[in-house]
Amino acid sequence: MGASPGVELDVDLSALNTFGLRARAARLVRLRSAEQLAAVIAEPAWASAPRLVLGGGSNVVLCGDFSGTVLKVEIRGRRLVREEAAAWIVEAAGGESWHDFVRWTLAQGWPGLENLSLIPGTVGAAPIQNIGAYGLELAERFEGLDALDLRSGARQSFGLQDCAFGYRDSVFKRNPGRWLVTAVRFRLPRPWQARLAYAELVHEVQAAGVSSPTALDISDAVCAIRRRKLPEPAEIGNVGSFFKNPVVDAAHGARLLAGHPAMPHYPQADGRVKLAAGWLIEQAGWKGRDLGAVGSFERQALVLVNRGGATGTDLMRLAQAIMADVEAGFGVRLEPEPVFV
Ligand code: EPU
Repeated sequence: MGASPGVELDVDLSALNTFGLRARAARLVRLRSAEQLAAVIAEPAWASAPRLVLGGGSNVVLCGDFSGTVLKVEIRGRRLVREEAAAWIVEAAGGESWHDFVRWTLAQGWPGLENLSLIPGTVGAAPIQNIGAYGLELAERFEGLDALDLRSGARQSFGLQDCAFGYRDSVFKRNPGRWLVTAVRFRLPRPWQARLAYAELVHEVQAAGVSSPTALDISDAVCAIRRRKLPEPAEIGNVGSFFKNPVVDAAHGARLLAGHPAMPHYPQADGRVKLAAGWLIEQAGWKGRDLGAVGSFERQALVLVNRGGATGTDLMRLAQAIMADVEAGFGVRLEPEPVFV
């Protein structure tokens, strides 16, 4: 049975996921416009088989071959929607590179996303896991988004409340395969104020000798920190932080601190305590250690890396070994951050 134009069959996905896991997809469609989806949905192969929406592939673990349709979002475009007294509203299509979009907004004179510089992936994927780094979360700059409901093909708009953003979480993450994000709008407050809440970022800016940093200075500082600590996905396969930073109740946090006074910990508004998964993994002896073709990165234990030719099974085996050791040592259950397919 022939597929309609634009559908590629039996596609190698290893270059389409930043961990570089070897896996194949039965069908792949490069979606260049929202309108294109109607033809895909009309195909008989669509209704019965699973679907996977892929952006930059930087937050996905492919555990094996995929028997359904992969929608690779390649919709492009970015614009200033409007200028308000208290904000610039800027929009980008789902297939735009996140980092290129951030740098473009800065070049245009619309600052506000600089703390999120150099995060791999696409604009459309950014709200799925509510990307966050260096003292800022996407939700704090979010205006709205447009998505396609993959069950019906209907267009749907989401406001801030509709997205139910949490720490590395959203309604989209909890309903995988349900929506495809076509465009995201950001509210960039004016006048701009530097977000310098993260100690390492403050040090980096000071070390650069800048007294009142611009948004571009902050972006450059974030890029410098990330380049120092995190592996470049094009060189060493990885999906960024592999686990979320776990949150424990106050009593558990206090017990751990009594035994490990130097343990990094971040008290939460509700009295619970967020811990640093990277620290826990390092203490459990996994930093820089390999298991088969995968390992924990030597400069940031929270990042698991592909040492060459890894499969999803290798990665899951390592993740489970780390989780077991952290649980045995600290009574903390780590939760993976990427989406498993
Ligand atoms: N730490 C260690 N050993 C390690 C790694 C970290 O002891 O191997 C300690 C650090 O010394 C520090 C603490 O753990 O005291 C936190 O480390 P870091 O500042 O590097 O940040 P993180 O909590 O490991 C989080 C995000 C990153 C984000 C950074 C900066 C999560 C899961 N990760 O990492 O996001 O870039 O903060 O804001 O929240 C991502 O989500 O993919 C990601 C890279």
